[in-house]
Amino acid sequence: MIPFNHKKIGILGGGQLGRMLLQKAIDFALEVYVLDPDNNAPCKNITPHFIKGDFKNFEDVYHFGKKLDLITIEIENVNVEALKKLQQEGKEVYPQPEIIEMIQDKGLQKIFYQTNGIPTADFFLVDNKEQIEKYTDYFPFFQKTRRGGYDGKGVKKLSNKNHISHAFDEPSVLERMVDVEKEISIIVARNQAGEIKTFPAVESIFNPQAHLVDYLICPAKISENTLTNAEQLSKKIAEQLNLVGTLAIEFFLSKDGKLYVNEMAPRVHNSGHHTIEACITSQFEQHWRAILNFPLGDTSLIRPAVMLNLLGSEGFEGNAHYVGIENTLKYSGVYPHIYGKKKVKPFRKMGHITITDKTLTAALQKAKKIKELIKVTAI
Ligand SMILES: Nc1ncnc2c1ncn2[C@@H]1O[C@H](COP(=O)(O)OP(=O)(O)OP(=O)(O)O)[C@@H](O)[C@H]1O
Ligand SMILES: [Mg+2]
Repeated sequence: MIPFNHKKIGILGGGQLGRMLLQKAIDFALEVYVLDPDNNAPCKNITPHFIKGDFKNFEDVYHFGKKLDLITIEIENVNVEALKKLQQEGKEVYPQPEIIEMIQDKGLQKIFYQTNGIPTADFFLVDNKEQIEKYTDYFPFFQKTRRGGYDGKGVKKLSNKNHISHAFDEPSVLERMVDVEKEISIIVARNQAGEIKTFPAVESIFNPQAHLVDYLICPAKISENTLTNAEQLSKKIAEQLNLVGTLAIEFFLSKDGKLYVNEMAPRVHNSGHHTIEACITSQFEQHWRAILNFPLGDTSLIRPAVMLNLLGSEGFEGNAHYVGIENTLKYSGVYPHIYGKKKVKPFRKMGHITITDKTLTAALQKAKKIKELIKVTAI
């Protein structure tokens, strides 16, 4: 009884994104193996095929992939050399290893945008701290380490010469500051047949005090023109990469109305969580469709949505405790997703809540209430 296909599929990474991919894989009766170094990873107890191993290690990835037909990722910091070897030996690897390799390096990403006519903030590449001195006429900068950064780690704002002393002393991108009006993102998927579909644009709403993302809202409050432009750029990128899989693209919309690509991730993404309840097809289903070369699903928005990340509260470290979660269930159109992580740390992503309503205004009002009801602490 294998309705969709008989491939043995592997995911590198067993975090929350893997968990939501598995959730959809059940509906398609896919046989999915997961590789993760953490025995408490969110995927651990929901698949009989959890393999403990390091997705950054050549041997671990190679031996994992050797027994499979198709390998995909839920995190981009994986061993690309092993994926290339697996591909040479006839395994399907989607997204393709060259795409993952380019995206792992923010410097190569910037060069990709530049050579393909994709608008992005002006930049310089430096190998160390000393070389920043050459560009002092161009302050302020965002310095971004070329490799290994995530969730804002590996990003520093350098406003003037005095900041150079505490800059990163490693290969990095010096990116000129964009006068940002809004940050939006678009998830695009492409299958082997070349069919491409974008999801509705999402907007990040920042907390003005903490400058942390408070909510993601969908649809983004942007003009028809900006939306079309962002969708076209997303499709162009997917085409130019010859992508098979899912790609999340983050954009800056500047105060003077221009779009700049900030960065991309070659996988399902935090900014697409709401698609589970708010779109006809979720990003997780779309990813399976794309890499299995099925027709892509309809990405239309059913209802406006707000997505709230459940982060570990400041000052709490230990066994996770979800205060007030049951109170959120009294509301209609509120969908908590708890990732099953045992340990909480300040700002660790422990879950998310999607809130939908007839209008975005109503969803936002409800989201504000929900946010006050729930807190992730430790016991
Ligand atoms: N050139 C820029 N101009 C203005 N703001 C910027 C610029 N580059 C980065 N930022 C700000 O810093 C944030 C983090 O930058 P970036 O997305 O490159 O880093 P990251 O660590 O990969 O982030 P994450 O994993 O949170 O997406 C951006 O979302 C934006 O708010
Ligand atoms: Mg980012």
